[in-house]
Amino acid sequence: MTPGLSAFIIILTTLNVVGAVWLMLSMRRRRGDEPGPGAETTGHVWDGDLGEYNNPLPRWWLWLFFISVAFAIGYLVLYPGMGNYAGRLGWTSINQHEAQQRASEAQAQQIMARFTGKSVAQLRDDPAARVVGRNLFANNCAVCHGSDAHGNPGFPNLTDQDWLYGGAPEQLEATIAGGRAGVMIPWQDALGASGVENVLAYVLTLSGRSVPAGDVATGKQLFAANCAACHGEDAHGNQALGAPNLTDHTWLYGGSVDAVRASIAGGRQGQMPAQLERLGPQRVKLLAAYVLSLGAGGGSGAAAP
Ligand code: HEC
Ligand code: HEC
Repeated sequence: MTPGLSAFIIILTTLNVVGAVWLMLSMRRRRGDEPGPGAETTGHVWDGDLGEYNNPLPRWWLWLFFISVAFAIGYLVLYPGMGNYAGRLGWTSINQHEAQQRASEAQAQQIMARFTGKSVAQLRDDPAARVVGRNLFANNCAVCHGSDAHGNPGFPNLTDQDWLYGGAPEQLEATIAGGRAGVMIPWQDALGASGVENVLAYVLTLSGRSVPAGDVATGKQLFAANCAACHGEDAHGNQALGAPNLTDHTWLYGGSVDAVRASIAGGRQGQMPAQLERLGPQRVKLLAAYVLSLGAGGGSGAAAP
């Protein structure tokens, strides 16, 4: 703050303390002056003859008062309060915040130390590691995947056996560390409305669904020509691309006819944000171990048919 403002604050604070002491001393009367006829009154009179004695303040109250004043002076010497004067202790809220941060980081390091050098599979079997993983998940992942990790439309369920990018420890670690970007281009323009309807009909038959409209045979040809490259000839998906299995009953974006049509016609671009830079390798590993512990199996990495 400017020197002028600083001086203003110092003067104001000093006047306050000095003024309070002066007021108290001036109001204080010697003890022992018992009230009686002729004793000092405040001079206030009501109803013609009703006066008000100026009795001494209770001793305990005065003591409390002087202790507060002494405290205020001590505080103003040790801590910042007098304008720009920093206080003898050199305390600042930023220093304190940084010290607390260092302490909690050191504590976290201590907790993390017991997990270093362990594999994701070993961490999955360590109950203490799973507790840390669960907390990390609640803070960093639940907002998208849900606190129970069951996911939402567009955000995959992490507790089932159905993996876009694979459920093996190293695949989970790679997904979490580096993030993932699913790219499914829109087909509306390339195939036209009837083309989308035909391929939609074919896709739905893959999971044994009835067909609203469209020609399944044509749809099958369109699929082989346009979709098999990513989703596979048998439509079982491709974990290298994150292309989902289209033959099961698990749908990332919802399995209603409208939702599947929207996926094909409009495309989909799911983004899993990378965590390595934010959380560091140790926390990523703990998260991978926690996710691994959610899916009963994990390890094979194969999507369930
Ligand atoms: C901003 C939302 C968001 C956050 C936060 C987020 N994710 Fe994801 N995650 C996604 C999306 C979207 C996908 C699917 C990507 C796709 O469609 O290709 C995904 C995919 C995944 C997958 C791959 C699932 C599979 O089937 O292969 C895993 C594992 C995963 N996330 C774990 C995590 C963990 C652990 C965290 C916390 C550190 C996390 N995610 C935080 C949005 C998020
Ligand atoms: C370039 C590779 C690629 C091609 C070609 C492709 N897809 Fe996809 N498809 C994907 C990916 C990747 C996703 C997942 C998108 C995401 O994670 O956000 C996806 C998602 C889908 C979904 C949503 C699945 C769900 O679980 O909700 C459907 C349906 C689908 N594709 C059908 C098709 C059809 C039909 C075609 C051909 C007309 C096709 N795809 C062509 C890569 C592709």
